Amino acid sequence: MHAFPVRLTESPKPLPKDVSKSFGDAYGDHMFLMDYDRERGWHDARIEPFRNISLHPSAAVVQYAQTIFDGSKGYRRADGGIHLFRPQVHVERLNRSAARLCMPPVDPDLVLDAMLRLTRIDSRWVPSEPGTAIYVRQTMIGTEGLMVVRPSNTYTFMIFLSPVGSYYAQGAGPVRILATEARVRAAANGGIGTAKAGANYAASLLAGVEAHAGGFSQVLWLDSIHRRYLEEVGTMNIFVKIGGEVVTPPLGDSILPGVTRDSALTLMREWGLAPSERPIDIEEVMAAGRDGRLEEMWGVGTAAVVSPVGELTYRGESVAINGGRTGPLVQRLYDAVTALQYGKAPDPYGWRVDVPTE
Ligand SMILES: Cc1ncc(COP(=O)(O)O)c(C=O)c1O
Repeated sequence: MHAFPVRLTESPKPLPKDVSKSFGDAYGDHMFLMDYDRERGWHDARIEPFRNISLHPSAAVVQYAQTIFDGSKGYRRADGGIHLFRPQVHVERLNRSAARLCMPPVDPDLVLDAMLRLTRIDSRWVPSEPGTAIYVRQTMIGTEGLMVVRPSNTYTFMIFLSPVGSYYAQGAGPVRILATEARVRAAANGGIGTAKAGANYAASLLAGVEAHAGGFSQVLWLDSIHRRYLEEVGTMNIFVKIGGEVVTPPLGDSILPGVTRDSALTLMREWGLAPSERPIDIEEVMAAGRDGRLEEMWGVGTAAVVSPVGELTYRGESVAINGGRTGPLVQRLYDAVTALQYGKAPDPYGWRVDVPTE
């Protein structure tokens, strides 16, 4: 365990009453922080009361979006214990995001220790209602004041916690999604789509607003070159089951390599389903929807876990999937992933990391 100073709050906040229907409306009492400059590298690792941060108006994060984040979840088990789910993989991805945005890597062991320690200190914030979790958000920002465009020489790294319930207002039921040709989330062949960079989320906002205005929950992102091949759905990786074949798009340089995607592929391989990773043409999906071969469609991600798609709309045409109901494979995956996450099933892959009780 890395040692760093802890300053506890003198005014703990009241806990939210019921987090099961909300997502991120409250934040824990404490946060982890450390700073970076070229002389000292990362330094001053510490835990402090949760607070606002102050920034130079011309900070690289403010002007040029030099910011990345990652997010994993912690779960409270029936025995009261808490563990984080695959936190190391999230930290590895954070360092890949950092490299893409010219930011300095963090020490993965130190950051894992910080995540565990912070969750331990704020353990009263880890909810226990069914379907709830503590979201552990890591963020790195460029803090140097800059008028020219270049990588910042100084950075701040933060971890903070938020108790969360269901990502979608309507809970875990099937959602309506809209395939958009007009807008793209991330550019192929050299963009930053594989990084969990704030700029990708800014780029996604308008399409999301337009989809919501049309009564859809999420955008189905198509590739930036042909505007044909499925990439992701909202902030999730996408899967379809067509004529018995389970398929997800291959990881290119415009798709975020999701941890839940990897967990789902691992489980389905173990179940003998031989999921394919190959390009999926939207025309293929719509044709399958028309002739009844589109059996199931779903998104996977830390926030919403496994989220069924009930209806897909493309060029004004809508197809219902499994009659708009949750299909058997989606249900099986949801049950298996959540059983692993909540500690209700054995953990053969070593995906759970216990939060120490000391
Ligand atoms: C754009 C995008 N795709 C996919 C995912 C799913 O990734 P993960 O399963 O690691 O949460 C996320 C969420 O983190 C995301 O923001």
